[in-house]
Amino acid sequence: MDTARAETVAQRQERLGQQQGYPADRLKTRVDVAAMLTPEHFALEREKIFRRAWLVIGHTDDLPQRGSYFVFEVPTFKASLLVVRGQDDQVRVFHNACRHRGNKLVREGEGCRKSFTCGFHGWVFSSEGALEVITDPHMFEAVDKKDYGLVPVTADVWENLIFVNFDEQPRESLQDYLGPEFFGRYTGYFDLHQKVASYSFELNTNWHLGVNSFTEGYHALYLHKNTARDYQGGKVNPQRHRPNMELMKRHHRYSAPGNPDHRILPVEAIAIQYGRKLLPAFDFDCSMLPPGVNPTRYEYWAFDVVEFFPNFVTITGNHFRAELTFWPIDHERTLVTNRTYNYKPKNLGERLSQDYFRARGRDVVREDLNTMEAQHQMLASGALPHVLLSRQEMALQHHYAVTADMLETP
Ligand code: FES
Ligand SMILES: [Fe+2]
Repeated sequence: MDTARAETVAQRQERLGQQQGYPADRLKTRVDVAAMLTPEHFALEREKIFRRAWLVIGHTDDLPQRGSYFVFEVPTFKASLLVVRGQDDQVRVFHNACRHRGNKLVREGEGCRKSFTCGFHGWVFSSEGALEVITDPHMFEAVDKKDYGLVPVTADVWENLIFVNFDEQPRESLQDYLGPEFFGRYTGYFDLHQKVASYSFELNTNWHLGVNSFTEGYHALYLHKNTARDYQGGKVNPQRHRPNMELMKRHHRYSAPGNPDHRILPVEAIAIQYGRKLLPAFDFDCSMLPPGVNPTRYEYWAFDVVEFFPNFVTITGNHFRAELTFWPIDHERTLVTNRTYNYKPKNLGERLSQDYFRARGRDVVREDLNTMEAQHQMLASGALPHVLLSRQEMALQHHYAVTADMLETP
């Protein structure tokens, strides 16, 4: 039986259960977001949320060989991290500070080195973080090199994502923080794709508003009316309701409905002739995907939206994925990074086909970005007592409930 046609999406949600793992009475449809836009509130969030959470800072793919490294700036803590694959193949994360007098060891960028030499007085550190050379050592009093390796930051890897935790003693492991909905359920998925675009920029907005812009589909028909008007829903689901919504202890994952009646534009038809369907058209065969992706196997599935609380949103599709991070600089400025991944092309035709869809996807994301500064200005003015969140925006209700949970934790 064609289950997707036989029941409405609302009935389907009812059957699957929408709020698995999260108490419904914590979800609020009216949220005083303006109260969260103050420096005082952000100072609390930095300590109780960002310092305690596991945060995504990059990919093991970006460290392809022994000695590969990159520098990652974390504006939330005014920190700079040196992320390195050692000669033993282990990925490690260090504070990017020379142990002599704190010079920034590697100023920026990425590369591959066996060791790192400080430009100030020439101290040398290995790619495993050990202090190897103190120049003119006899002029120092009783310094044991073993005690002065680079300062490590707690780090762990899930699939190909590198996470860090800034707490002195992390309260839980990465595995516990992510939960069983993720561990073991994405095997091989990240290897299907390669990076095709990556950029970052600062916005005059609070980090919550950035995250919220990508975790509801209610806006798709309106904000994206010129770029991707008919990519979701269609006759089988005209209100574009989410066919699956999972609210977990901290994170959420929902599926977005594709439109089987999407009208293919002439140039899009050419792109599809040479490559695979990517947003705004979708390949509905997801039989090759691991169980965490489209977990309920919705027939007209477009992609999943996953929020790893607090600041990482990934859009996981069949032949593509996107990853956005929202790093608060302060209460009203956010560093946004966006990375796009596509299937690995086998020929030039597929590569050109991907470029067409990449440009369309970029235009959609630019529209998403456009609302954040305007929304911040209006909310920060104190004009509204609260914002209203519908059932279509249940993921936002969940985001603010988890925010409250973490702030209430001693
Ligand atoms: S600060 Fe690095 S060697 Fe002096
Ligand atoms: Fe959007």
